[in-house]
Parts: sequence; C-alpha cells; structure tokens
Amino acid sequence: MPTLTFHGHACFLVEHDGKRVILDPFLTGNPKADIESRQVPPLDAILVTHGHGDHLGDAVPLAQAHQATLIAPYELARFCVEQGAPNVHPMHIGGAHAFPFGTVKLVTAIHGGAVEGDESGRFTTHPCGYVLTMGGVRIYHTGDTALTLDMQLLAGRVDVMCVPIGDNYTMGIEDAARAVELVGPKVAIPMHYGTFPLIEADPRAFVKAVGGTAQVVVLKPGERYSA
Ligand code: NI
Ligand code: MN
Repeated sequence: MPTLTFHGHACFLVEHDGKRVILDPFLTGNPKADIESRQVPPLDAILVTHGHGDHLGDAVPLAQAHQATLIAPYELARFCVEQGAPNVHPMHIGGAHAFPFGTVKLVTAIHGGAVEGDESGRFTTHPCGYVLTMGGVRIYHTGDTALTLDMQLLAGRVDVMCVPIGDNYTMGIEDAARAVELVGPKVAIPMHYGTFPLIEADPRAFVKAVGGTAQVVVLKPGERYSA
C-alpha cells in the first residue's frame, strides 16, 4: 500500500514498492516545507499540476538531480525541457499513461495557466489535477482548482483525495467539502492552506464541513499517511 508524506502546501511524496513520486515539489521558498530540495530521497517521477511557482517549484532541479521523469501538461512540459529537465513526459487532460511506478491520468482543474519564469508567455498551459494509481490505490491530487462539476466524473473512482482548502486562489473549506461530496473518496487530505497569511484556513473546520462523507486526515508537514 502506498504511503503519502506531506511536505507542505501542495507537495506530497508518494512511495510504494520501492518507487517514489513527488507531486508539486515546492520546497525552496516554501515557509511550511519540512525538508530542503537536497533532502528529497531518490525519485522516479515528478508530477506538476501547473506552472505557478508554488507548484512548479523545485521540479526542474529535482528532475536533473534524480534523472527522474518529469510529467506535466504539454505546454508546461515543453518549458521544463527548455529549462534543462532531462526526462520529460508531456501529457494532457483526459489522457492516462502506465509508467513503471504506476498509472497517471490528467483531469480537469479550473485555474490560471501562466508559467513562472516564462517571460515570453509561450508556454501558458491548462492546469490539471492528477489521478495517480500506485499499488491499486487511486490518489486524486486536484491541483489548484475551483469546485467543478467535472469532479463528478471521478465519483467512486478515488481512494485518497488531496484537496485545497485555503480559499482565495482555490476552493475554500465550503467548496472543498462539496468537492469531497462529489467524488466520495475514502480519505480526504487538506492542502494548500496556511502557507501564507492570505490562505490561512482551519483544517478542523474542514473536518466538520466534510462530516461523515469521508475520513479526513490532516497532515502536518513531515507527517505521513499509509493508504
Ligand atoms: Ni496556482
Ligand atoms: Mn497554488
């Protein structure tokens, strides 16, 4: 069974059967990160939901250091190639692919497409969420997104859902609880809150809002959950 370790903001390390995948590795400059980029254990893959700095983060340097496969929506993937990432696998929303570590599917997220560091605007992309299946456990990392009816398409198809609750740039607690209701995962893990003053949120209020819909697991940076 895979283990998810929260590293602050929207960053999760997923480990199963000796394989390691990191999602949205924003460590450098993340006031809530519990580890530095150089402390990340050997990676097989890096999944990036969109190009904002708090998600793209250390993705390219990690891809270089670990010779790991960097997976991103096509336009963002091309930017990462230009930035020197050695093994880039572009994908796009609706598409799935089986990798040696597990299966990755890109799903809808409603959010902004700018890519941090791309002054030309050539790499503006469509943000995504990921359904990552490892060891038979289906993990849905929504990325930064609004509540959207598209989430209904995942109803009954998700075991663990990582969901933003910080409001302002993404869903807040009320919408995040509705998202959990639409998807119906076994476990919901709140993310994307408390990193900066603007996205302060009380995870206990999220637990209350979700009620009996799903088990809510609140992870502090550095804490892990075995699915
Ligand atoms: Ni964003
Ligand atoms: Mn963000």
